[in-house]
Amino acid sequence: MSDENPSCPTPSGGEPTSTRSAAPMWIIVTTLVLLFLGGYYFDQHSGWFNPKVYAPYPNAEALGAYQPMSGDAAALARGKTVYESVCGICHGADGLGKPGQAPALAASELVITKGFNRLAHIPLAGLNGPIKVCGKDWSMAMAAMGAALPDDDLAAVLTYIRGAWGNKAGPVTGDDIKKIRAEIGKAPQVMTGDMMMKLPE
Ligand code: HEC
Repeated sequence: MSDENPSCPTPSGGEPTSTRSAAPMWIIVTTLVLLFLGGYYFDQHSGWFNPKVYAPYPNAEALGAYQPMSGDAAALARGKTVYESVCGICHGADGLGKPGQAPALAASELVITKGFNRLAHIPLAGLNGPIKVCGKDWSMAMAAMGAALPDDDLAAVLTYIRGAWGNKAGPVTGDDIKKIRAEIGKAPQVMTGDMMMKLPE
């Protein structure tokens, strides 16, 4: 009681005090859950502010995937998908190949040929070196990685690699592949590079 001024009024409820107590756990948890749900709802329904996106599509890509494509665009999209799942593992999604694994397809003189007879033989029959790609020697082996693909899918892949990454060579059709597959026959012989170069381009 020493330095208190006795003339100051004392409130009846005692001196006001301020307290600090942590927010209860349930508020924190509920807030996080609401934030998460809000974020999910935004992601699914906002179209990410793109006015062209409408329900039920969550974003422009999903919407685009449902748009009807012309035959060529559909074949190219199919070729890209098959390429990335079957060939890209070795040759790279960017077509640049991987050192010690597979040569480049981008700018490869075996891909951007005028005809595609030789090229189609590679995934249908398999290739067992030696070859030259972009001035580099390769002597590895590629199994008949495309032999199990339907004609249209292999055609789409070859069309894709002949047109992607700056390559500018003409398309291949399912009928083309059907013909070449028939010429190769049921028990294809894996080609050496020399055998391949003797085939008509
Ligand atoms: C398991 C790895 C692997 C997969 C998968 C693969 N390749 Fe290859 N590919 C190779 C290797 C290795 C060579 C080089 C062979 C040689 O040295 O004779 C090659 C060579 C080639 C060549 C000729 C060389 C060049 O770079 O132009 C073409 C064209 C080709 N592959 C296309 C394809 C296509 C199309 C597919 C998918 C249907 C495919 N490859 C899948 C490993 C692979």
